[in-house]
Amino acid sequence: MLGRKIIQIECVDSTNNYVANLLSQGKIEHGTVILADEQTNGRGQRGASWDSKAGENLIFSMFIDTAILSVKDQFVLTQIISVAVANLISKFGIEADVKWPNDIYINGKKIGGILIENQIKGANLNGSIIGIGLNINQVEFQNLNATSLKLEKREFIPIQSVVFSLINEINNGWEMLKNNQFDWINEFYLNKLWRLNVEASYIDKSGEFIGIIKGVNQNGLLIMQKDCELIQYDLKEISFKI
Ligand code: BTN
Repeated sequence: MLGRKIIQIECVDSTNNYVANLLSQGKIEHGTVILADEQTNGRGQRGASWDSKAGENLIFSMFIDTAILSVKDQFVLTQIISVAVANLISKFGIEADVKWPNDIYINGKKIGGILIENQIKGANLNGSIIGIGLNINQVEFQNLNATSLKLEKREFIPIQSVVFSLINEINNGWEMLKNNQFDWINEFYLNKLWRLNVEASYIDKSGEFIGIIKGVNQNGLLIMQKDCELIQYDLKEISFKI
């Protein structure tokens, strides 16, 4: 079972770094969760930073021993975590979408982000740090296109109530992954995927276009219908026009 041990800290540079440090000393068990009130150097995808007001949001990292998972299948880990976060939000009566590959959105606004850092040994993973930032009670985001559970629900949400549901959802996904139910996992992911089968605007190297997301491939590339062709995009090759 994941999430049996939870370490709560007030302030840290990054909970993902904290896990990485424990890991390098061999001092972390499979499924351990680190929660922080505040990060001084919260990290996002592609070198971005992750800012979160102290004490207002979920700042969560979990270590998972992913040695059973081959490098070529690593996208399923992204899928189960994204679905877990989206499912967690739906427990609050709000529908959240996964913006490919692993951003969590509500009505076109970002509510959460995921930063998974995998260690690799040969053909398999050798441990993964699952970092999740979810906006819970923050209500001001300056110019960011962001939202929070409080803004959506118009009520204060205790962070603790979110933690246990999230761990529960991650456990459900992890069980499916351990049972190699990759087709199911993909189906659940597509079910939450924002703009699936819907015409919308995107930008690629040739400029803006109207396309239709058709799914993802095994490597997590986005499959997009553009004109009458199916094109596969890597993360850096496409952006969403929101
Ligand atoms: C993103 O959308 O860019 C990913 C954001 C991930 C933020 C979380 S908060 C907990 C963990 N620690 C970090 O430094 N980053 C992740």
